[in-house]
Amino acid sequence: MSRSYLFALGLTGLILTTPGMANRKVVARPAVQQTVAARTDSTAPVITHGPYLQLPSATSMTIVWHTDRKCVSRVEFGLDNRFDRQEISSRHGLVDNDRANHIIRLTGLEPGTTYQYRVVSRAFLGYERQHIVAWGDSIISDPFEFTTLDPGKDRFSFSMVSDLHERAEELATMIESEAWQDIDFAIYNGDMIDDFMRSDQIFTGFLDASVHGYATGKPFIFARGNHEVRGRFARSIPDFIPLQDGRAYYSFDHGPVHFIVLDSGEDKEDGHRYYNSLVDFTRYREEQARWLTEDLQSETALRARFRIVISHIPPRGADRYWAQSVREHFEPPIREAGVDLWLSGHTHNLMRIDPTEGENNYHLLIGPTHAVTRVDVSPDELRVTVTDIDGVRLEAFTIRR
Ligand SMILES: [Fe+2]
Repeated sequence: MSRSYLFALGLTGLILTTPGMANRKVVARPAVQQTVAARTDSTAPVITHGPYLQLPSATSMTIVWHTDRKCVSRVEFGLDNRFDRQEISSRHGLVDNDRANHIIRLTGLEPGTTYQYRVVSRAFLGYERQHIVAWGDSIISDPFEFTTLDPGKDRFSFSMVSDLHERAEELATMIESEAWQDIDFAIYNGDMIDDFMRSDQIFTGFLDASVHGYATGKPFIFARGNHEVRGRFARSIPDFIPLQDGRAYYSFDHGPVHFIVLDSGEDKEDGHRYYNSLVDFTRYREEQARWLTEDLQSETALRARFRIVISHIPPRGADRYWAQSVREHFEPPIREAGVDLWLSGHTHNLMRIDPTEGENNYHLLIGPTHAVTRVDVSPDELRVTVTDIDGVRLEAFTIRR
């Protein structure tokens, strides 16, 4: 990168670092003179968490990171380490300058293509007076890379965990395990944290371990569990886990699979005293059921060889309100359209329910705690294995088409 390019980008006082990775080498470059009419802060912002990849698709990827102060941020990216494209975050015509969490969606990408990226944050110190703002220094991350999803890909693998409940060290062990190797993405199927009562729970509970292990280069798909939607910070989840077009439920496609992520909500009736009249999940499930009916009739869903549903709360497996409500709302369109596999968690216990005449016409797998569920996808089959944290195989079955 030339010095003139640095000036053009306002990258003065540049520091290269890899946040959240204590063992990685940190390279500092001497600051260069500010050329903009603004004050230089004595310290550069620090990237405290991330970057990590979210909401993958064949043509887009979302990059998220967090800084220790408000910044104006961008992602520089491109092919063959050129970093000749950039994307910023703005809303309604205004570039974000009031956020310490940075969520930037890269669009217009090619399917199945590997891009290099790095994130840049410049401290925004405030407005000195009318028309004049005060800038601090900038920080730029190490380069990382990701590969977009590809509906044309023949075979791939993904892993799923649920009900981690903030056992970050356990997640780190799982990420190193054989069940996690050579995956295209991971699925976090809810209750990765306990009730969301402290703002740092997502970081310490699973996010920092994910960034350290893989999430700078492979995305994780997040289906919200009943514990994430509970507590004083529940409404701030989108600051950490971005929404897809404003929704926590959505679908995406990769290889021969159409994936549907559902947000199954709380596990008790809306009127339960625990919720203090502050939840509205029945209507939310009704809203999702309408969307689900439409989504299953979409061109990508109809064309896909396999359909996989992901929801934290399972539709079956217990005679309890939560299963009943999920089943009543989501099963009718699924029974009508047909899906191959429904992946859930919540009960903490492994359960496999095969298609049963007059009941469910899909395979249901409820993943247990302390285990990784891995699915190997090929053109003709889904091979499902569940392996516990000690490497013991708990379940294996194959769905063929
Ligand atoms: Fe749960």
